[in-house]
Amino acid sequence: MPLQIYSRFSSRHWRAYKSLNISKQFPPSRSFHTSRRAQAIKPFLLADIGEGIRECEIIQWFVEPEARVEEWDKLCEVQSDKASVEITSRFAGVIKKLHYEAGEMAKVGKPLVDIDIQGEIKKEDLEALTEPSAGEESQAQTNEGTESAPTAPVQSKDTPPESENISPPKGKHAALATPAVRHLTKELDVNIMDIQGTGRDGRVLKDDVHQFAKLRDSGGSPSKQASNLPVNTPTQIETITPLSNTQAQMFKTMTKSLTIPHFLYADEIDFSGISDLRSRLNKGLAKSPTNGINKLSFLPFIIKAVSVALYQYPMLNARVDSESSTGKPVLVHRSQHNIGVAMDTPSGLLVPVIKNVSALNVLSIAAELSRLQALAASGKLSAQDLTGGTITVSNIGNIGGTYVSPVVVEKEVAILGIGKIRRIPAFDDEDEVIAKQICNFSWSADHRVIDGATMARAAEVVRGFVEDPDSMVMHLR
Ligand code: COA
Repeated sequence: MPLQIYSRFSSRHWRAYKSLNISKQFPPSRSFHTSRRAQAIKPFLLADIGEGIRECEIIQWFVEPEARVEEWDKLCEVQSDKASVEITSRFAGVIKKLHYEAGEMAKVGKPLVDIDIQGEIKKEDLEALTEPSAGEESQAQTNEGTESAPTAPVQSKDTPPESENISPPKGKHAALATPAVRHLTKELDVNIMDIQGTGRDGRVLKDDVHQFAKLRDSGGSPSKQASNLPVNTPTQIETITPLSNTQAQMFKTMTKSLTIPHFLYADEIDFSGISDLRSRLNKGLAKSPTNGINKLSFLPFIIKAVSVALYQYPMLNARVDSESSTGKPVLVHRSQHNIGVAMDTPSGLLVPVIKNVSALNVLSIAAELSRLQALAASGKLSAQDLTGGTITVSNIGNIGGTYVSPVVVEKEVAILGIGKIRRIPAFDDEDEVIAKQICNFSWSADHRVIDGATMARAAEVVRGFVEDPDSMVMHLR
């Protein structure tokens, strides 16, 4: 039976993958339509999933050497900086070698498994998705003869990892967990690689999974708790742990942010008006939910206010780049307001993006926020959800803190940090003491291109909309 061969992921990623137009990335050298019997042991490459992702951590394998796989069978689950993805086989055949162990980083474009491909396949697909095995060119034969192609450097499982002196990452032996434990992790929606196993060689046990889920559900952040670190030792013991994927991504992003000269502008916002409006709207939504929303938080209003202000100050929606011919710095303005929202998730800080906010009303922003929050909580945000931001809002106030000094990220020039809403005594126009709801807004901006006056004016516009949310109605499109 002829086989159609594609490199593939789960259906969500397959769509993203298709849009990458793989034939451009791996141009077939000759014919586009030749089918052939492969009968070859080929390294199956980890394909490009776009968004600049260059490597992924192998979370778990679903196959082992000598396992028979059909097309679309799951091979493994990988976790990139941005999302977790199930990789499935594009070939029917027999797995001959796994190039990585669970817990290792697999490189995009490098062999993931060696597979003894069985069946007819299109030549260009074979070329695009595999490469001849190292030292096994003689095996990489088709019925048209032997193919020779460059072999890629592979970090095989025989190669010791670079940092052997580092304590093994959590869940290093997760791949050895029993099916019952795996089943439990799925049931409780936890990532086995986040769990420090207490079984032999660090194997994850059922109890570990229950403990982890309990900590998570009680509001603790198990990934940050480092519960197995030694304490109260007679001498100082230093324990090295690798960064989690989220931390590694944060490390890269924040290191790039160091090149941006920041300034901070903070102001106090009266939340009394928006609190009243929100209470009124929430009464209605409680009776008849709309768009699946039965309650609004403050954030959708603030996000909308930022977007409306961006019409007057589009510079805050721009990014800094350099002209390709002269290398001179330029501002690249963007037509869509794609507002990143910092989220505290079980795996750490993630910033999914609400796209094209100017085209959304407060309810649709709330619905999108809620969708992204649910995906973030279960570690299922896609690369698409996590990219394309043009400005960021970070509401730390629901956790605590009056002020925050947020950090501008690459490809953006401003970020808004929201502190905790507080009830304070204040004077009204008649000098009477009244209760007010106050919240601090802290803006950080890229001082190379944004000056303090521009930031202050734009922040004033946002303040106006938040303090008098009804006025936003006039600006809605
Ligand atoms: N001050 C006081 N209370 C606040 C608040 C603030 N700034 N922001 C939200 N709240 C309240 C909400 O009103 C809600 O309470 P209620 O139901 O009694 O009205 C409660 O906190 C929970 O709100 P939440 O579900 O968090 O909704 P949200 O839309 O305000 O925020 C997230 C959603 C995802 C942004 C938020 O949960 C989050 O993760 N914040 C942390 C962001 C972060 O880590 N930033 C730091 C980056 S370095």
